Amino acid sequence: MGILKKLFMLDISEIKTIEHDVLIVGAGGAGLSSAIEASSHGMSTGIVMKSLLGKAHTVMAEGGMAAALGNVDKRDHWKIHFRDTMRGGKFLNVWRMAELHAQLAPERVRLLEEWGAVFDRTKKGLINQRNFGGHRYPRLAHVGDRTGLEMIRTLQDHGIHQGIETYMECTALDLLKNEKGKVIGIVCMWRETGTFIIFKAKAIIFATGGGGKAWDVTSNSWEYTGDGYALAYEAGAELMDLEFNQFHPTGMMWPLSVKGILVTESVRGEGGILLNSEGTRFMFNYIPERFRSETAETEEEAARWLSGDPSARRPPELLTRDVVARAINEEVKAGRGSKHGGAYLNIATQRSSEDIKKKLPSMYHQFKVLAELDITKESMEVGPTCHYFMGGIRVNADTAMSSVPGLFACGECAAGMHGANRLGGNSLSDLLVFGYLAGKKAAEFAKNNANHSDFDENQVRKIILKATEILNRESGANPYLLHEQLEQNMQMNVGIIRTKDELVKGIDEIENIKEEYKSVKAKGTSQFNPGWHEALGLRNLLITAEAVARAAKFREESRGAHTRSDFPGEQKEWLNYNIISKKGVDGKMQLNKVERPSANPELVRIAESSIEDLENEIIEERK
Ligand code: FUM
Repeated sequence: MGILKKLFMLDISEIKTIEHDVLIVGAGGAGLSSAIEASSHGMSTGIVMKSLLGKAHTVMAEGGMAAALGNVDKRDHWKIHFRDTMRGGKFLNVWRMAELHAQLAPERVRLLEEWGAVFDRTKKGLINQRNFGGHRYPRLAHVGDRTGLEMIRTLQDHGIHQGIETYMECTALDLLKNEKGKVIGIVCMWRETGTFIIFKAKAIIFATGGGGKAWDVTSNSWEYTGDGYALAYEAGAELMDLEFNQFHPTGMMWPLSVKGILVTESVRGEGGILLNSEGTRFMFNYIPERFRSETAETEEEAARWLSGDPSARRPPELLTRDVVARAINEEVKAGRGSKHGGAYLNIATQRSSEDIKKKLPSMYHQFKVLAELDITKESMEVGPTCHYFMGGIRVNADTAMSSVPGLFACGECAAGMHGANRLGGNSLSDLLVFGYLAGKKAAEFAKNNANHSDFDENQVRKIILKATEILNRESGANPYLLHEQLEQNMQMNVGIIRTKDELVKGIDEIENIKEEYKSVKAKGTSQFNPGWHEALGLRNLLITAEAVARAAKFREESRGAHTRSDFPGEQKEWLNYNIISKKGVDGKMQLNKVERPSANPELVRIAESSIEDLENEIIEERK
């Protein structure tokens, strides 16, 4: 039967339609924060999620949320947090986003506490804060090594009692727009029954997280298929700087069944050290010039830091993640890797068994159960794992709106806050700050667009037919095998260290997989069909992977998490540009080098100040 005939036959009136003022896709920390804020403005608010409420990748940010509360070290201040963030992001961050984040994070963390988050405490009863890579002071408010989990638990509890509607196990397929190009709704599918549902909304917020499932070794769970990037891209939104993919230095290495699962940075924040197969604490050999004045260069000084000496500089294991991940990579390449191709992470000789169990209970449990290893006695084997996307949907810093009217984005799926590399702990505070801002601005937008628009039924029909073709064609490519092919390709050709030749190979392979995907086939019916779900997610992963690989080839420099061995070092000229990917009128992905707006000179001054000058300025300000 011809496509037009099939389109005509689909009776849209049979499909249930639900209306909300603000609809959010994704129920992690960003989605829940934005929903709470939107609903607090009297908006009817719904959250659609692929998984179950409470199950989100947010829980993988274990070590804490960064905010200049100054509870452990009074010298901390938003300006220092801002400076650390810009330096960590290699100055490619959207200045205004980093400013808003550093300024608003403390009050959002305190609010989370008011809503019931049970943080670890200092002796004085304040929220306790720990050290993390790239943060000058102990800055991460934490709950042992389960901070993300506590955040989700608190937000979901607060949100549900505030009257937010939740739609679980519901997959977002594609956005609906009106003739003016404004987003007016979204077509979704209930995973359990395979039936469709249409949500009409005055504003839609994407809080869909990242796309780490494009790689073979990742800390991301199955939900992370780049849905927000792909749906936004298909709707005409711009994606920005997708080449910056963070490889967290410490994922589990062994056994293979758990390879990539996160080993929290708080192990190093609590004093854990990295060793190679020769027993050498190798991070001392990898201190970049820029961080030399702030990093301990001897074991003695690092030990003094661990014993709480405030004059001691931080150990090199707490350098930013890009530096540590590359160092492990180098050690392995030089033949000094651990048994299964990583490094050894040792906390057993650094802290008492009691401390380890108290501060790192999940890590203790994780290694006991998954690797039959006692971290209070033995070293862990760790290696880089794809963890986070710094790039994403391009948004306005103050409104969180994308280039498509009515479509907002926050959290990992939005670009800009973290520049070329994210500091650990800045993700949870990002979710709180930009979730809040997106919810507020989406509520304002919904109020100014008081009526729901009617949707074009043919848009809905096309979306549904595209989804059901996967089930209805006679035969075709297996979605699981295609996904595996993509993972291997990204791991091999678009990994931590990149070259033009490999990236070209990677892009060619993505094109091949895209071709095969055109005939992807899931066997079985539409009811709870994992093969179908896999195939639907794969479309999004392919768009995401293509944007990453093409942007990685385009950016001919090494900056932050993007390392081009054929273009070593940062290139001054490239600091002036973001890479924007957009769907062209011919349906092909188009990339452009777009000049960054000029920065606020006061922010530049703060970020470029020496730490001594900035500390003195803060002392003066506080007098
Ligand atoms: O290592 C961690 O606990 C991860 C934190 C983060 O990604 O922010």
